[in-house]
Amino acid sequence: MNPRIKSMAEYEAAYQQSVEQPEQFWAAMAHEFTWKKKWDKTLSWNFNEFDVKWFEGGQLNITENCLDRHLETRGDQTAIIWEPNDPTHTVRTLTYRELHREVCKAANMLKAQGVQKGDRVCIYLPMVPEAAVIMLACARIGAIHSIVFAGFSAQSLTDRLTDAECKIVITADGAFRGAKAIGLKEIVDEALLTSPTVTRVVVLQHTMTPVTMVEGRDIWWHEAVSTCSDVCEATVMDAEDMLFILYTSGSTGKPKGVVHTTAGYMVWAWYTFNNVFQYDPGDIYWCTADVGWITGHSYIVYGPLLSGATTLMFEGVPTYPDAGRFWQVIDKHKVNIFYTAPTAIRSLMAQGDEFVYPYSLESLKTLGSVGEPINEEAWQWYFDNVGKGKCWIVDTWWQTETGGIMISPLAHITPTKPTFATLPLPGVQLMLVDANGNELEGNNVEGNLCVKFPWPGMLRTTYGDHERCRMNYFATYSNLYFTGDGCRRDYDGYYRIIGRVDDVINVSGHRMGTAEVENAINEHPHVIESAVVGFPHPIKGQGIYAYVICDHMPDHADQRKREILEVVSKQIGPIAKPDKIQFVAGLPKTRSGKIMRRILRKIAEGETGNLGDTSTLLDPSVVESIKNGALS
Ligand code: WTA
Repeated sequence: MNPRIKSMAEYEAAYQQSVEQPEQFWAAMAHEFTWKKKWDKTLSWNFNEFDVKWFEGGQLNITENCLDRHLETRGDQTAIIWEPNDPTHTVRTLTYRELHREVCKAANMLKAQGVQKGDRVCIYLPMVPEAAVIMLACARIGAIHSIVFAGFSAQSLTDRLTDAECKIVITADGAFRGAKAIGLKEIVDEALLTSPTVTRVVVLQHTMTPVTMVEGRDIWWHEAVSTCSDVCEATVMDAEDMLFILYTSGSTGKPKGVVHTTAGYMVWAWYTFNNVFQYDPGDIYWCTADVGWITGHSYIVYGPLLSGATTLMFEGVPTYPDAGRFWQVIDKHKVNIFYTAPTAIRSLMAQGDEFVYPYSLESLKTLGSVGEPINEEAWQWYFDNVGKGKCWIVDTWWQTETGGIMISPLAHITPTKPTFATLPLPGVQLMLVDANGNELEGNNVEGNLCVKFPWPGMLRTTYGDHERCRMNYFATYSNLYFTGDGCRRDYDGYYRIIGRVDDVINVSGHRMGTAEVENAINEHPHVIESAVVGFPHPIKGQGIYAYVICDHMPDHADQRKREILEVVSKQIGPIAKPDKIQFVAGLPKTRSGKIMRRILRKIAEGETGNLGDTSTLLDPSVVESIKNGALS
């Protein structure tokens, strides 16, 4: 079977084969790659205990497939184009050959710093080519990368360093974000005060922000690599060896470290990238995500490089120096495929069409959307003003846990419908269930979205806590992976994602656990208790609404709100700051002490009329007082 689908008929045939003969189907795909040893067993699985293995017994190194494999055929082709934050600064490009060399050097550097196969390496970097280089350098020597988005606070960094017992942190002096330079090294310094496992910090010079180097612990990147050879043999990895950990928020507790392994993730990132975007040789592809999120992992670095593509990395923000920056970059680099998030589309749409008009955007042929539901207005604006009515929009649904895209149109193949992620990719066997886990068959149904069969890119565990992983994803419904999303299947069998049905909110495409934000708010010395819910936000998709009980009603509410925002920024990062804070005297609780979030959600949505049944509340009068407070 040809890995690249070219028509709806081929899609249907591929889908059918992937369901009827999944092992043969994925074995054929995996044969596209360089293996050091072929696998013995294509798939073994058990969802109840959650044990999934793909390509067991196979041995390989993913970087040989991202880099070495391409040297002969496209060694001089550009692998990475880097567009800096400041449009007047110099663009950097790396060919496959140059990237290969840089990765080997960095891999030798890691070894020289004592990193060994299986060690966890934390990466806390801005969007610079070195972020991709060091990811691949880890993979080259079998170290496991754990990237932490450089907008997270010192406390969040500490939590992640400690959970994964990282030995080393790779960071930079600072990061440029629009008109600002943010000191990253100082955040790392603060995090390391309470992260005992870290003994080494490698610091990339980037913003020239002054930093303090701790003797015996800290070393400059450029000094550390200066003596390293650019030859580094790839370490032999088992198909199921860990490739990376990526922390993501769930409905309870602290973020968990989603684990992806080598071969299955590789096949999935490559297969989905090729088929969804229909990448053709020579295309310039740009995904605006940050490498700190799964989209950056799979669709800036691994998917494109496995496919021999040219991938653009952008350091800046969509509104600097003005709201035309994305469009300027597209024209400057003749971008053919552009992949971004609905929040970015909505915020640029709000700035006015005059920022788009100066640019021709004629190189574009495919537009992607990811991370949150895209509303019809944004979809249409994207289609008309960015795509000029001639580009395909691929609305791609997936998750950190799925490793890659699961439901999406195939560009220029699958007929699209605004706000619909359309159809599952080959290998993705979906099931909609009701609250009791009964399958909702047929079309025109709405329920909880589950997957009933393993796909190569799925998570394998959460780091250090397999039982939590099993409970989280496989215990809600027997024998099913539960996504946490609600979903509709329409008359045509097309899928439309409605949003999270658990206690996760999606703010600007960033996942946030309500419990996580509550715990942060509760760190304020005068806060007794809090409850956080999401509410519809015109730009961010969802905003964060916090109901807060203090030891006594604050006299200076605005001051107290500012303090709470600061505490949240410090505990998690600015992205978790509530949009609205309401001080309340009590929270609506059932007699068993459970907060009735349904009521809080309705009030946050501005729906104060019909709040449904409140008779089970311990003190129904609380609701009246919250309602009145929300209105005031
Ligand atoms: C949401 C991001 C609607 C969904 C790749 C999911 C989407 C969560 C879409 C995962 C989409 C992602 N339409 N909702 N096209 N893509 N989501 O782990 O709620 O950061 O569960 O992965 O984002 O977020 P995560």
